[in-house]
Formats: sequence, structure tokens, C-alpha cells
Amino acid sequence: MKSFDIKTKIFFGDNALDRLEEIPYNKILVITDPFIADSSMIQLVTVPLEKGHKQYDIFKDVVPDPPIEKISEGVQKMLAYKPDAIVAVGGGSAIDSSKSIREFALRVENYGDVGLIAIPTTSGTGSEVTSFAVVTDSKDRVKYPLVSRDMMPDEAILDAELVKSVPPAITADTGMDVFTHALEACVSINRNEFATALAEKAIEICGVFLLRAYLDGNDTHARQKMHAASCLAGLAFNSASLGLNHGMAHQLGAIFHIPHGRANAMLLPHIIEFNSDINKHSKSRKEYLPAVKKYATVAQILGLSSYNKIMTVRSLVNWVQFMLKEMDIPLSISQMGTISEEEYFRAIDRMADAALADACTATNPRVPSKEDVIAIYKDLW
Ligand SMILES: [Fe+2]
Repeated sequence: MKSFDIKTKIFFGDNALDRLEEIPYNKILVITDPFIADSSMIQLVTVPLEKGHKQYDIFKDVVPDPPIEKISEGVQKMLAYKPDAIVAVGGGSAIDSSKSIREFALRVENYGDVGLIAIPTTSGTGSEVTSFAVVTDSKDRVKYPLVSRDMMPDEAILDAELVKSVPPAITADTGMDVFTHALEACVSINRNEFATALAEKAIEICGVFLLRAYLDGNDTHARQKMHAASCLAGLAFNSASLGLNHGMAHQLGAIFHIPHGRANAMLLPHIIEFNSDINKHSKSRKEYLPAVKKYATVAQILGLSSYNKIMTVRSLVNWVQFMLKEMDIPLSISQMGTISEEEYFRAIDRMADAALADACTATNPRVPSKEDVIAIYKDLW
């Protein structure tokens, strides 16, 4: 038996932040990062809170790849202030931190129901509607994905006003993260009709609007569309899960601090090739692997098709490479110029073990061996 539901209420479109005036909570802890807290952006959140006569305090110590120590500082802050809701403002790190802080604080002292309202300031993680949070053990450089339905936000507010100032490189990285979420949800072994419907819409939007948002950050229409796509893809992978792409990208983030969306984007052509086996297909297989048909459908949504399914999947790989080049995302680790060859190859064995153990990898459509993962990491160099 399968089931599908959307726990999070979503507010979106023009003036979506006005929702903060009416939220059914009175004592709010805003959790954000210092950049947002010290810029005028925070007023987009605090002004409606004040209009709605809400009492609030701000915890502004969120850092990228939230480490356990910062989560524990947030837990102390929450237990000292005892809010009836958390408003998380930021990218995936702020929202993931807020989920973990609420979860752990209430385990330490369950003083009552605490709402969680997620307000993303990038169009990427979809964290505003998922039950996942990633916490980093910075000492051992390991990322731990936490999963619990209790961590899902009660409300998500999607207001494109907050993403207008996102610089092109981050628009590119986060946008490719959206695309990867949607694509992995479409081919996952947990895929289902409901998740696929949402993922396919996200893919269609990425095809039309990602490059537009990258080229002109002030294109409000494109920004709004990508903000919706991010949430749609989040809903999709929350139900269908992800795959090897994320399993391998997490290790590149943990060890080499490659931004999450960028790591996903760079791996994507390699993972599509592996999952569909398009390079060896004609020699070794009589039948297509299951992912081939799904990838071909995605290619068709993007307006790509060729005279057979394998060539259509090849055109999807070409499209991804085209997007990477257009948006100045390196195609290989060596092209980045920031990681030494020796250091990278030394880490491959360890990264391969961690990628195979990563929860995302379990739902990949093709079961990878350690040798497969090592070969992909080597190819990525
Ligand atoms: Fe992601």
C-alpha cells in the first residue's frame, strides 16, 4: 500500500509574506543567518509580524552545512525563549537547522506544540515541504540526513521578493538542485503517480525558466516560477525519495565543500548515463533498463526527442551539459581548479563507501556496486 499527502500548507504568489500577519501563533523565534538578519531583507519578515502584533526574537547564527554544535546552540535558545512557533528564513541551511532545533529541543523538554513556518530565500532545496534535514558532523566531515514526518513544516511561504537578490551562480546551483530533485523523484524505485505529476511540472518549469532567472535576476515571473518549481520538486522527492546523484553529491559537499546544487549538477550527466547504461546498452543488454523510459519522458517534457529512446536519453544528457556550460557550472572537478588531483583521488574510496551508505542511494533505480561509484567519481575528475 502506498499513500500520498501534503502536510504543509503553502502560501505563494504576490504578497505571500502578508500571511505572517495572520499566522495562528503569537510568540515567534525567527531562525536565520547573519547575512539576512543584518540586511534589509529581514524586514520583509519582521514588518508583517509586527503588523500582526506578534512577539518575536531572532536567532541569527545559522551557517551553511549546519554543524551539530550550531543546532545545539539553537536548542538552548529555543528552550530559553519557549516560542509557540519558529519562522525559518533562509536557504536549506536555515530551514534544516530549524527543523532539527525544534525536533531536538522538544525531545529535551516537551513544553507544548511548536509550529514551524518555512520561508525559503533560495529556489532550491524544497526543504520547506520535506521531512528531511541534513546535519553535518564537522569534525569527521560526515553529513547525516535526518528523516521524520514530525520535522515537516506546518506552513511554507513562497514569496519571490526574497529571491530577487540571489546572485546568478547561486541561482544556477540551486536551480540545478531543483532539476535533480525532480529527475531523481521520476526514476526512483519509490516513484509514484502523484510524485511524478509534481516532478514533471517542476521539470517543465526548469526547462523554460531556469536560464531566464539566471540571465536576469529581476525577471520576477521567472523567479516566481522557479520558486514554485523548487517546492513542487520538494513535494515530489519527499514522497518518492532521491537517488545515487544525491548520495554521491553529499560526499562532495562534506569533504570538499562543493555547494550542494553544484555537486548535483556536475554529477547529473554521469548518473543519467549510469542509470540508463546508454554507453554500453547496445552491446550488453536486450532490454532497456527501467530508468530509460522515465528519462525519455523527461526529455520529451523538455522538448527533446530523437529516433529511439536511447538517443532521446542521450539528448537529455546533452541538455544537462548545455545548461551547465550556459550557467558557468564546471563540468568536472579538475575544471573547478580548487581541489588537488591527489587529494581528490585519495578521498574517492572513502566517498564511495559513504555514498553507498547514504539513505538517498537506497532508492536509486540501478543498484550501484562500489566499483561503479568509484568509476563515476573518477570520471567526474
Ligand atoms: Fe538536493
